[in-house]
Amino acid sequence: MRYEIKTIGVLTSGGDAPGMNAAIRAVTRTAIHNGMRVKAIYRGYKGLIADEIVDFHTENVSNIIQHGGTILKTARSQEFQTPEGRQIAFNNILKHQIDALVVIGGDGTFTGARIFAQEYNIPIIGLPGTIDNDLCGTDTTIGYDTALNTIINAVDKIRDTASSHERLFFIEVMGRDAGFLALYSAMASGAEAAIIPERETKVDQLDELIRNGFRKSKNSSIVIVAESEVTGGANGLAERMRIEHPEYDVRVTILGHIQRGGSPSAQDRIIASRMGAAAIEALKEGQRNVMIGIINDEIVYVPFTKAIKDDKNVDEEELKVLQMLSI
Ligand code: F6P
Repeated sequence: MRYEIKTIGVLTSGGDAPGMNAAIRAVTRTAIHNGMRVKAIYRGYKGLIADEIVDFHTENVSNIIQHGGTILKTARSQEFQTPEGRQIAFNNILKHQIDALVVIGGDGTFTGARIFAQEYNIPIIGLPGTIDNDLCGTDTTIGYDTALNTIINAVDKIRDTASSHERLFFIEVMGRDAGFLALYSAMASGAEAAIIPERETKVDQLDELIRNGFRKSKNSSIVIVAESEVTGGANGLAERMRIEHPEYDVRVTILGHIQRGGSPSAQDRIIASRMGAAAIEALKEGQRNVMIGIINDEIVYVPFTKAIKDDKNVDEEELKVLQMLSI
């Protein structure tokens, strides 16, 4: 059913990602361009419950496109996971006469949005904002490209010391349970291997690496490890290596939250701008409860249930490319 949307609310939720500000800017300005009013909701669903809601005008989003983080702040709300919390959130939506929401975040954000939209019949559009690139139905997510660039800059530096000391480095990157950051940063930085959760469930990747004689032609090596209980993380693998192969001089670097910060790349600013504008177009078309994705450079609408399905897999063929290039 279509109804006229006069006021939209916009929020960011979950882990921040570079490019979220560009998305907030695009949503705000496209909405205003279309004669809508914009309410900015601070601190994600937490702020929706706490009534941290203010009017936003075009100047509120000036001079933010180049900044990492999110000017709206972000949070992971336990209260929104309860029916009572969502009732308070909805009361605030009524109070501020918000007709539709644009939520920018990852799988947790869309899980909350899907339940809320079902319970209260409010149109919600999602924008994929996460460095992990682990949402289905989109080739890329806002923040992923910047995070990849941050990682390869760090790996380039570590490589200098690794090769000088002829050491083996395990470098841990984010990605919770998804290996995209690990695989593609390994490819882009010329690392020996990426150890990722998706593959660890099928094969012991450290064992495989050693069996393949990973150090045949080199005196130093870099292995990128996705943080996760499944892989054991960089510390877990280094421990094993020290016991099984004491001949290697092993070191660990955990890149941590540095990967979430910094000025967004051109690509992240562009996709955030396109997706933000598309969110308002989607609402005008009567779309609801979909995430905006980009597939083959085209904007697509992805139902929340599909976006959070958890079956976006890394391409096994590309792992083979990585292996081939590291001989
Ligand atoms: O989902 C984004 C992400 O950066 C993950 O890669 C990481 O595991 C997690 O957030 C870290 O969350 P927090 O900042 O709450 O420690």
